[in-house]
Amino acid sequence: MLIDTHAHIYQEYYVDKSLVINNALKNNVKLIINNGVDYKTNKEVLENLNEYVYGAIGIHPENVLEYQEEDLKFIEENLGNPHIVAIGEIGLDYHYGKENREKQIILFEKQLELAQKYHMPVIVHSRDATLDTINSLKKYHVKGIIHSFSGSLETAQIYLKMGFLLGVNGVVTFKNAHLKDVLKELPLTSLVLETDSPYLTPEPFRGKTNEPANVYYVAKFLSAYLNIPLEQLEEVTSANALELFDRIRSDML
Ligand code: NI
Repeated sequence: MLIDTHAHIYQEYYVDKSLVINNALKNNVKLIINNGVDYKTNKEVLENLNEYVYGAIGIHPENVLEYQEEDLKFIEENLGNPHIVAIGEIGLDYHYGKENREKQIILFEKQLELAQKYHMPVIVHSRDATLDTINSLKKYHVKGIIHSFSGSLETAQIYLKMGFLLGVNGVVTFKNAHLKDVLKELPLTSLVLETDSPYLTPEPFRGKTNEPANVYYVAKFLSAYLNIPLEQLEEVTSANALELFDRIRSDML
């Protein structure tokens, strides 16, 4: 079984969300973690939970200027939902500049505090912000996934030491990805698979809208590249995800 640990299955991207789930099931993708990024999408994530689709709710750093305090309250109020398995997508993104840096850190740490308080994993977005991400994470007792990991081996090892897993998606199938060299040095027990749908579509479908079914192509690529049988790669990465998301585990019993 495959798990897509990071997707954004919203109405604005997919006309027929049940088709997206059926396509996933056809590729043996049995679990999807749908990530919210703001109040509106968090609400949508909560309205679309089912036996295959679990949810993470959070405020993405790109929404730092628009979010309201009550949006964080809304997150806190819904963490008791047994199908909400993490706080995400949260983090820091300095790609388009650092002028909101302080505000981003405040927003990120408010959500890390919630994660610590309610013993929830976090799904972390970190772009051009490695040092600050590590500094914030170190202040809290939290575990989770560094989504779309693309850093150095040294950075990977710091995250692993802190108890985080690294999310691998279609980026690994793109040419010139130095990421491949880093992944080769890491134990398989440190990786989980994801798509970041509708973005980052893996080869051979690059350019099209991504969907959770395509996590299969990420797995297939990694299996060939790392020279590990596909079945083993699926088994280990899914077990890694299930070990982190205890709510899914207890739901499956
Ligand atoms: Ni995302």
